[in-house]
Amino acid sequence: MRIAVIGGDGTGPEVVAEGLKVLKAVAQKAGFEYTLKNLDISGDRYLAQGGDPNKQTIPVIYDEEIAELRTFDAIYLGAVGHPKIAPGILEKGVLLRLRFELDQYINLRPVKLYPGVDTPLKDKGPADIDFVVVRENTEGIYTGMGGVQYKGSPAEVSTQINCTTRFGAERAIRYAFDLCRRRNSKKKMLTLVHKTNVLTFAGDTWFRAFHEIGAKDYPDIKRDYNHVDACCMWFVKNPEFYDVIVTDNIFGDIITDLAAVIQGGLGVAAGGNINPKGVSMYEPMGGSAPKYAGQNVINPMAAIGALGMLLRETGNNKGDRKLVTAGERVEAAIIATTPKMKSQAAGKMGFSTTQVGDLVVSAL
Ligand code: IPM
Ligand code: MN
Repeated sequence: MRIAVIGGDGTGPEVVAEGLKVLKAVAQKAGFEYTLKNLDISGDRYLAQGGDPNKQTIPVIYDEEIAELRTFDAIYLGAVGHPKIAPGILEKGVLLRLRFELDQYINLRPVKLYPGVDTPLKDKGPADIDFVVVRENTEGIYTGMGGVQYKGSPAEVSTQINCTTRFGAERAIRYAFDLCRRRNSKKKMLTLVHKTNVLTFAGDTWFRAFHEIGAKDYPDIKRDYNHVDACCMWFVKNPEFYDVIVTDNIFGDIITDLAAVIQGGLGVAAGGNINPKGVSMYEPMGGSAPKYAGQNVINPMAAIGALGMLLRETGNNKGDRKLVTAGERVEAAIIATTPKMKSQAAGKMGFSTTQVGDLVVSAL
């Protein structure tokens, strides 16, 4: 397996280093080989090369790098985000560009409360918080379609188009049904989250696709629907209700941040940008956290979780049992480690960044 590593900015490289420590250990145990290639794609490089911090003047990722990234089995990403660079430049230039160019049409976000991890939800524990959000990752309002006219005048008008295709909705829905089928849960229920009462065009495309595909090809999976606002309420009141959720790009963006908080915060939440037949990219959900950089205090658990996902999902997509099992072993080691930690917050873990990595390795 060839893995491209993009440590990125801030604490990204530190947490990725712990994930790679765990990778080395699990590869020895599970008996597979891999090679790593580091790519310096970061805000620091952009500035060092003379990029303007206020508007994009040079590429943050080069065409040759995208071409090279296509040749790997997976990408392991730390964080993109730099305090000196205006919002949007790195997000659009790196993260969104890779999602679109590599057609990573699924954003996969497991939401699982690990033992010993604090949730802000009263009276809820690991048995209650264990579901997966499948977010469509290449369409909706993220395509950049739309524009602004008469900018700066009282007549200013802007549009931001919700580009929804049957093709895009369908492939996300099918992925989610398949995941629901193979997932180890008794509920076997897929919930569509949208806003069909207001988004009567885009919502209807999703709704009909969901029920048509479900009725025809997945009769064994129960179908359920939530409006996105109600879904936010249920995440807090009854998270145990959910099994797998499928939703559009922006709704998925928003509900997965709420989901991250109920699973213990950004120190533990991991995600994948997935093209099941292409090159997928796995990352911890916390940003570059510049104020903690270089202090050995940031929580690497989300990055270790992302590494576990990388192994499991690469295995799933390539039909490689050994990798799937290796990913499961990483998760089991995380579950053995979280109860030993005082907190999942940076600087309050009772251990340093590198010590947490060592704990996971010894649990393996
Ligand atoms: C995420 C992030 C990105 C998104 C930003 C950084 C563009 O919030 O991965 O959820 O909105 O998708
Ligand atoms: Mn987000």
